[in-house]
Amino acid sequence: MTELLNNKKVILSGVQPSGNLTIGHLTGALSQWRQMQEEYDCFYMIADLHSLTIRQEAKVLREKTLDTLAMYIACGINPDISTLFVQSHNPYHSQLQWILNCYTGFGECSKMTQFKDKSQSHSDNINVGLFAYPILQAADILLYQADLVPVGEDQKQHLELTRNIAQRFNHYYSDTFKVPEPFIPKVGAKIMALQEPTKKMSKTDVNEKNTIFLTDTNEQIINKIKRSVTDSGADIRISDEKPGITNLITLYSIASEKTLKEVEETFVGSNYGDLKKAVGEKIVEYISPIRNSFFDLKKNKDYLMQIITTGAEKSSNVAFKTLRKVQKKVGLLPIK
Ligand code: TRP
Repeated sequence: MTELLNNKKVILSGVQPSGNLTIGHLTGALSQWRQMQEEYDCFYMIADLHSLTIRQEAKVLREKTLDTLAMYIACGINPDISTLFVQSHNPYHSQLQWILNCYTGFGECSKMTQFKDKSQSHSDNINVGLFAYPILQAADILLYQADLVPVGEDQKQHLELTRNIAQRFNHYYSDTFKVPEPFIPKVGAKIMALQEPTKKMSKTDVNEKNTIFLTDTNEQIINKIKRSVTDSGADIRISDEKPGITNLITLYSIASEKTLKEVEETFVGSNYGDLKKAVGEKIVEYISPIRNSFFDLKKNKDYLMQIITTGAEKSSNVAFKTLRKVQKKVGLLPIK
């Protein structure tokens, strides 16, 4: 509703509450989300329904849902400005999804690379939810008439599908959905796994030494950096042949807000030990205020519940308008 009162563009994005958030989420998503709050009308969701496509332990999922919310706030997402909500608290996501299911081709979903990858890594549970995952994501986005969707490179294909569904529906009926644009942050720097610096750092990596979580203690951060895999040779520079050192330089550059070049210059003449020590300290400086704020927020469950209760109401009001239009166009009979 607020977005109808002002001319701000609308943003919607979300993260699944499976696993703990990492330094990669902060640099790749949450810090952009934070910066976008003033300029756009932002809806930031916790995609709990999407998490059900992989087996979850009920108690853990509930806990992670609140943890994800606390982490959004700890990273600077302001609930007084942005709408923070839990996907399953707004029934219209599932309702719109059902309708969109009927406007999406079986072939379109089967060619999604994420579906193919997840079918491989979870071959014992290739459920229909996993197949329809991107259609629920389309419903998430289209309900809010979002202009922009900040996502990582890996979600581009889902955005493309969302655009196709929206255009198809608009063409078949009349203008109903805003056709959203993906917003892929320019921050090119990919953060790699600390023990295997040729693969991406991930929140679900079985080896915890590979990942810096936003909840890690200072000691854990320093130790993980100290034990990170480096390369042969002794010079500190960015190079494809030096993935470990390149990754440490990248981490330092993110945590210090310096360019990669400036960081390289800082460490001319230093050895790997000096670099690791400095990177560990910088990351501690970068993450510890967020971690402290996260643990403070976690103690205040009433406050968190109050935010998502308001979020459920606000998001439902906006989403219902779109759903109602869609229901009318496809011929569902209203009761009043
Ligand atoms: N699929 C997204 C991810 O795993 C999470 C997500 C669900 C999402 N719904 C969304 C992201 C809507 C952007 C918009 O990263």
